[in-house]
Amino acid sequence: MRKRVLSGVQPSGQLHVGNYFGAMSQHVAGQDECDTFIFIANYHALNTIQDAAQLRQLTIDVALDYLAVGLDPNKACLYRQSDVPEVTELTWILSTVTGKGLLERAVSYKDKVAKGQAASMGLFCYPVLQAADILIVDSDLVPVGKDQVQHIEMTADMAGYFNGVYGENLLKQPAAKLNDAAIVPGIDGEKMSKSYGNAIGIFEAAKSAKKKIMSIKTDSTPVEDPKNPDTCNVFALLKLFTTPEETAEWVNRYRAGGMGYGDVKKRLAELFEERFGPAREKREALVKDAAYVEDVLAEGGRKARAEAKKVMERVRSACGIMVSGK
Ligand code: ADP
Ligand code: TRP
Repeated sequence: MRKRVLSGVQPSGQLHVGNYFGAMSQHVAGQDECDTFIFIANYHALNTIQDAAQLRQLTIDVALDYLAVGLDPNKACLYRQSDVPEVTELTWILSTVTGKGLLERAVSYKDKVAKGQAASMGLFCYPVLQAADILIVDSDLVPVGKDQVQHIEMTADMAGYFNGVYGENLLKQPAAKLNDAAIVPGIDGEKMSKSYGNAIGIFEAAKSAKKKIMSIKTDSTPVEDPKNPDTCNVFALLKLFTTPEETAEWVNRYRAGGMGYGDVKKRLAELFEERFGPAREKREALVKDAAYVEDVLAEGGRKARAEAKKVMERVRSACGIMVSGK
């Protein structure tokens, strides 16, 4: 049986190289072997985006981004969270079997509040909505970064509470699939993040991306001296793009000395363009074809909802919730 893999993406702005190698590329690569569900978490986004026009635009942007980097709607199911309203119904039902203490232990909630985000019920209950996203389509695996592992464990806990009350195997307990991608550094050497102003966008114009690449922070080892690839930010980015053979060649050049960081940066800019140039063009074409993108999302929504309806029938019947006509 093919594994069902699900991941959610918050619509939160232009994606960068860190998002691509840390998350998107795995999602796209998995579409051949797994039953892949990727959804745009627009209900989640209401915690941070409270402008309707902006949310609509950012939602479409995620769809454009994924289609441009190669998500194939004939293989994977790409949909908007709001096209599966059963998700919010399951959220409520899960919250009735989940102790408040579980949510109080959520590190991500505490972090966000510590950073000044309002402690709304939406933010507090976010992990329950996330659990519903996952459980509503009987997901086996959820590929996520380290920061999300606790939410997936909480999802398995919530499924366990529900099954404990209403009957074994009603909800499938998922597992996190931790990607092995390293943290991608930004141009200042810190973790690349849209909030740190150090990101290189994957759809950024070639000229602007090159300018950023040429400004990546390096140490001041003179050109003629040997250099350490393992501590170099440019190398950390370069090796994401190079073949193992080319990576090995660069390691030798670093260690031999006589090479300036400018050479590595130029190669990185070239590789960036080779990888993302075609995706940028594809994205530009898709922007002009709004009807196609809407069709993909509508079709994805129908497919995901058909799965969600099956799970909800099981859930409603187990807990005695009746809906007229069903
Ligand atoms: P940001 O830090 O820019 O706000 P998000 O938190 O929205 O990024 O991350 C979305 C996805 O991209 C997550 O799965 C996260 O693990 C991954 N990701 C983000 N930044 C990086 C990075 N610098 N290196 C590796 N993965 C990253
Ligand atoms: N919380 C995830 C993030 O911030 C997004 C998300 C929402 C998600 N629902 C999900 C991820 C379900 C995986 C599965 O990145």
